Amino acid sequence: MPIIRDYVSTDLNSLYAIALATGDCGSDASRQFHGAELLGHVYAAPYAIFEPELALVIEDSHEVAGYCLGALDTRVFERLLNLRWWPALQQRYPLTPVGGSHERLIGDADIIQMIHHPSRSPSWLVKAYPSHLHINLLPRLKGRGHGRSLLTAWYGRCQAMGSTGFHLGVDPRNTPAIGFYEAMGLDSLFSPSTTAPDNALWLGARFAH
Ligand SMILES: CC(C)(COP(=O)(O)OP(=O)(O)OC[C@H]1O[C@@H](n2cnc3c(N)ncnc32)[C@H](O)[C@@H]1OP(=O)(O)O)[C@@H](O)C(=O)NCCC(=O)NCCS
Repeated sequence: MPIIRDYVSTDLNSLYAIALATGDCGSDASRQFHGAELLGHVYAAPYAIFEPELALVIEDSHEVAGYCLGALDTRVFERLLNLRWWPALQQRYPLTPVGGSHERLIGDADIIQMIHHPSRSPSWLVKAYPSHLHINLLPRLKGRGHGRSLLTAWYGRCQAMGSTGFHLGVDPRNTPAIGFYEAMGLDSLFSPSTTAPDNALWLGARFAH
């Protein structure tokens, strides 16, 4: 039976592998990338490294096969990454490929843009839902209740740490994940301003304290 436990630093390579194996709207993204670590650089590793208290993994008899990672205060996390995470990656992955390097695939190019122009969650969202998360399971664990258990454990941790609410962004094409979030009782969140629509669909919940 898979178990949910705290992240430890030796899990980091598994987090990178899971980010890639689930990075195309929940499916394997490896054909879109030469840089196998790129997705993990954005969506997994910094959370585990800088916010290990909010990093939970699920492990079966083989290995770590899923995670729920998050940031308690999204704005603080964004500022921390601007100082301590993105600069080294910007050097390692220049916007314009240097001679002799691999041709970039569309996935590489998109993520390298994000490394140089990190996204910021909208202000209207972080005000009411200051924390945020990413949850990803390998296919062998999907559809067996482990997503519910992992997200419930993460909620508990986040609430105990004093958060007033959390949000997450999902690609509108990822309809299975949206179905999951709705089944988990999350609300769809919309900008009060309709003049600046976002590419992501936002969902979230507030905690009662
Ligand atoms: C999304 C994900 C975390 C869900 O975890 P899961 O283990 O497959 O989901 P569970 O089996 O725990 O399902 C929990 C509930 O959601 C419901 N649910 C799950 N998928 C659903 C779907 N596609 N449509 C409607 N409901 C769904 C289940 O019926 C269940 O409801 P119940 O507990 O009331 O019976 C997992 O499938 C996953 O990691 N997918 C790939 C990565 C991904 O897309 N991550 C999200 C990126 S934003």
